[in-house]
Amino acid sequence: MSKSLKNIVKTLFGGLLLTSLVGCQSTPPAIVSSPDGLIRVEFSLTEKGAPQYEIAYKDSVVILPSTMGFEFKDQPALKEGFKITSITQSNFQETWTMPWGEQSEVENKYAEMRVALEETKAPNRKLNIAFRAFDDGIGFRYEFPEQEGMKQVIITDENTQFSLTGDHDVWWMPGDWDIYEHLYTASKFSEIDALGKQNDPNLAATYIPENAVNTPVTMRTAEGVYLSFHEADLTDYAGMTLKVDPAQNSMVSELVGSDRLQAKAEITIPFNTPWRTIQIADRAGDLIESKMVLNLNDPNAIGDVSYFTPMKYVGIWWEMHLGKSTWDMEGSQSMNTFTNSGETLSNHGATTENAMKYIDFAAANGIRGLLVEGWNTGWDQWINTDDREGIFDFMTPYADYDFNKVMAYAKEKGVEVIMHHETSAAPLTYEKQMDVAYKFMKDNDMNSVKTGYVGKIIPKGEYHHGQWMVKHYHKVLEEAAKMKIAVNAHEPIKATGKRRTYPNAIAREGLRGQEFNAWAEDGGNPPDHLPTVAFTRMLSGPIDFTPGVFNIKFDEYKKNNQVSTTLAHQLALYVVIYSPIQMLCDLPEHYMENGKPHPALQFIRDVGVDWSESHVHDGEVGDFVVIARKEKGSGNWFVGGITDENARSQNISLDFLDPGKKYEARLYKDGSDAHWNDNPQAYQIETMEVAQGDDIAIAMAPGGGFALSIIQK
Ligand code: NOJ
Ligand code: CA
Repeated sequence: MSKSLKNIVKTLFGGLLLTSLVGCQSTPPAIVSSPDGLIRVEFSLTEKGAPQYEIAYKDSVVILPSTMGFEFKDQPALKEGFKITSITQSNFQETWTMPWGEQSEVENKYAEMRVALEETKAPNRKLNIAFRAFDDGIGFRYEFPEQEGMKQVIITDENTQFSLTGDHDVWWMPGDWDIYEHLYTASKFSEIDALGKQNDPNLAATYIPENAVNTPVTMRTAEGVYLSFHEADLTDYAGMTLKVDPAQNSMVSELVGSDRLQAKAEITIPFNTPWRTIQIADRAGDLIESKMVLNLNDPNAIGDVSYFTPMKYVGIWWEMHLGKSTWDMEGSQSMNTFTNSGETLSNHGATTENAMKYIDFAAANGIRGLLVEGWNTGWDQWINTDDREGIFDFMTPYADYDFNKVMAYAKEKGVEVIMHHETSAAPLTYEKQMDVAYKFMKDNDMNSVKTGYVGKIIPKGEYHHGQWMVKHYHKVLEEAAKMKIAVNAHEPIKATGKRRTYPNAIAREGLRGQEFNAWAEDGGNPPDHLPTVAFTRMLSGPIDFTPGVFNIKFDEYKKNNQVSTTLAHQLALYVVIYSPIQMLCDLPEHYMENGKPHPALQFIRDVGVDWSESHVHDGEVGDFVVIARKEKGSGNWFVGGITDENARSQNISLDFLDPGKKYEARLYKDGSDAHWNDNPQAYQIETMEVAQGDDIAIAMAPGGGFALSIIQK
């Protein structure tokens, strides 16, 4: 574009255009605005013909001009020398129904702009960039259209820049290629030091090659705007970390690589990348309420998933993490990681008798599910072994576990047994066995499986978050869907909203879970862990955190470890941390007091797991969060609040209740002298009659919280 034309463009659009302030664009910006007009994305080409975008929220820039491009093996980079061949704009609006979720109906409303680019010089390659502007943020993706000379392409780098407007407050975890089980750090952007998080002794596999962060990464600007960066619809591509340039307040996409490929991703064109997403909000709680990441995924592709019932479950699980029992029957050395004692412990957890004990507990308390870990042979070779290929077959029970007897007893008592497949991070073996293993499950009326991928991936050189594993996790969802099986993956790829397309993806781990409280060398999760997770990891999707520890210090098993919350905080997690499956993770005997069910167990018995509405009442990243949810079907409400190490009070206005109805509210709160470390099990229960418009004032202790059930009379 000539200088004079550029001036005309500038005058035409005046100061309204952000790019005109920067003055390095050679095309007039193409603009797309959110339906409410508050978020605006501008796309332009620089003088060198490089694509760039920028974002404004309420007329203030939130993302400065940021460039986009790719580098490939065996062909020149695709990053400049472009012309725009077309710009198309459209609007979209729909409402879709969640089969299970935080709410029944989801509105999906956005304005889309698709910019078609072509290199002005040979080889005249083409690239389209699609932008979607929602009221709660933006997404964009690269679309490689079918074209001559570009078919099979190896990407060595995707360089999507996110240029920030200042040194924001950031809640981040390192961009580990193998695991998301790091604690979050709160710091200024300029202070991010991911390389300082290397070699965590608590992690079975960890690899942090750059000063990069994992997504979702959440930030707050000096003006109080919240931003969270993530991706949507990660299906056949490498997971994205964001490399940090502290001096420039800038991040650039850094895809997880593969040693085999010596690159990041292999794609077959036509190809669309995952969406790069930025949630934008004035209120931290709006980040949680946003459904944008889900909306950027395709609609349900697998049809009816009513074979999966949202549920609470117990499990032969915490006892192994505490070192009370073992996964293996042999009492092998390798299990001593969890006993911390060095001696050989031979006390198999998954015995027929023990499973029946858990079934009795579940049946007595209206808990639908039972997970049994360590039921199948192979656990003696599980960890601390390099050769983990093929150690599990997912069919052969240990001699002291009478599979048929347990299944029959569970059925008689109305309890559904959840399958456990620890793959030992040997996905090729798992893929070979999947169809037989899933058929075995179905033959035994099992509808859901918890999978696990502990350790370095076999084959060596692939990483949990690389394209090769992304495809594996996706294949598991597809094969499981064919067999009507729901999947709860541990050591997974991060959630990117795929549960919309594959609603058999019920939950996943992908964070530092409760288990760390049992054995982590640094003492476990600090009180601000979950008030941070709610605004970071939880933005990506349901979490199998496994809440519900009542015996907070468990000194009988581990003197140097504990849960760093109060008991009321543990109760609140059933509402705060969303998942359609929620574990009662503690030992059955810890839910008893003087031979009777612990009074606080009543909350867990009552609380819903499937919701028609959810509202974030209040919250601040890393400090506290209060969420209210309405149970699907019953119309009962449940409210949960958690705080970090600081005591806080909350006033809850019950405006959300139905007018004219009476409810019985039961408040489970911290005792007056409760404290996450000094007195974590002190609690109080208050029962009252409430109606719409009533107010309840609640005090939370340091590391504490509250849980409120509001049941229709
Ligand atoms: C790690 C998982 O997170 C945990 O829940 C499980 O008990 C072990 N792997 C064994 O599979
Ligand atoms: Ca784990």
